[in-house]
Amino acid sequence: MKEKKIILTGDRPTGCLHIGHYVGSLRRRVELQDNPEYARRFVFIADAQALTDNIENPEKVRQNVIEVALDYLGAGLDPEKNTIFIQSQIPELTELTFYYMDMVTVARLQRNPTVKTEIQMRNFESSIPVGFFTYPISQAADITAFKATTVPVGEDQEPMLEQTREIVRRFNYIYGDTLVEPNILLPDSEASRRLPGTDGKAKMSKSLGNCIYLSDTEEDVNKKVKGMYTDPTHLKVSDPGKLEGNTVFTYLDAFCKPEHFERYWKDYTNLDELKAHYTRGGLGDVKVKKFLTAILQEVLTPIRERRKMYEKDIPSVYEMLKKGSESARETAAQTLDEVRRAMKINYFDDMDLIREQAKKYAQK
Ligand code: TRP
Repeated sequence: MKEKKIILTGDRPTGCLHIGHYVGSLRRRVELQDNPEYARRFVFIADAQALTDNIENPEKVRQNVIEVALDYLGAGLDPEKNTIFIQSQIPELTELTFYYMDMVTVARLQRNPTVKTEIQMRNFESSIPVGFFTYPISQAADITAFKATTVPVGEDQEPMLEQTREIVRRFNYIYGDTLVEPNILLPDSEASRRLPGTDGKAKMSKSLGNCIYLSDTEEDVNKKVKGMYTDPTHLKVSDPGKLEGNTVFTYLDAFCKPEHFERYWKDYTNLDELKAHYTRGGLGDVKVKKFLTAILQEVLTPIRERRKMYEKDIPSVYEMLKKGSESARETAAQTLDEVRRAMKINYFDDMDLIREQAKKYAQK
């Protein structure tokens, strides 16, 4: 029988989750939760990683832990099928990170393009916190502690996965087969891999105010789509419109299915037809935005409603996280045992070692 796969993924709790998170990874996690190829699914809130660049904002991180948990539950992650936990509650991860640090050079970390960009964005150039600089190593610990085979994340996480695989190979080469090499699982479409903000800027980000959140109200969503960036040269309805860089069409690429035309816009049968009309001219942005709004509301309404239900019983959400953290910790502790044995730092449960040493000194 084929060995079953293990999923692991997580998010930093620095804000509520938005539709970029949804198409980038969350939607996939929900789809995979009934797939029998997977033995276990771990989903976690990366609070310790969030602290690496928020050390002065512990309250922000703490507040957002519950927001992210509610977003998970709202999106449809079932705690019976996923072990949902909080990173900082698994001390084994810190210990693993400490050992992995010996296997990575400073030069290698400096080459990580995602960390490079983040350093620039945060103006850290001359004062990078060591913990932030080394978070790719801690991310390798997150992944390997659970022997994850499959990590559903966005494109920006590719360098972390690469680094993790390098650590795994190095570890297994030195200490013998212990760790598992993970694979990234990217979203199918280009649009879902890199959903831009509503202003057409590269990425959704809280500080740019260009996000549509899973917890946004119906009115918020209507307003945000109305104000979305399209094609600035498409002034009159009769003008031909451009699709490239047109955020409304990028969102349609990420969300639209043929059945949406059946339900909301019978003039077309699929997205290609709609695009053809738009490029030809004679189709106004307002109509396309109305269609996108209908689709987004269809996706977001059940999420919003489910979230509201969980908001009514916050203590049980914490209880779920606690149970998940306990269960995750058992798995991580088991891996750590194997790592310690492989690294020969399991002194007290190694009877051969003690006997061998005793013999050596008896002969003196
Ligand atoms: N770096 C991820 C983010 O920015 C969060 C994260 C931490 C993660 N550890 C992980 C994702 C392990 C996948 C696997 O949101």
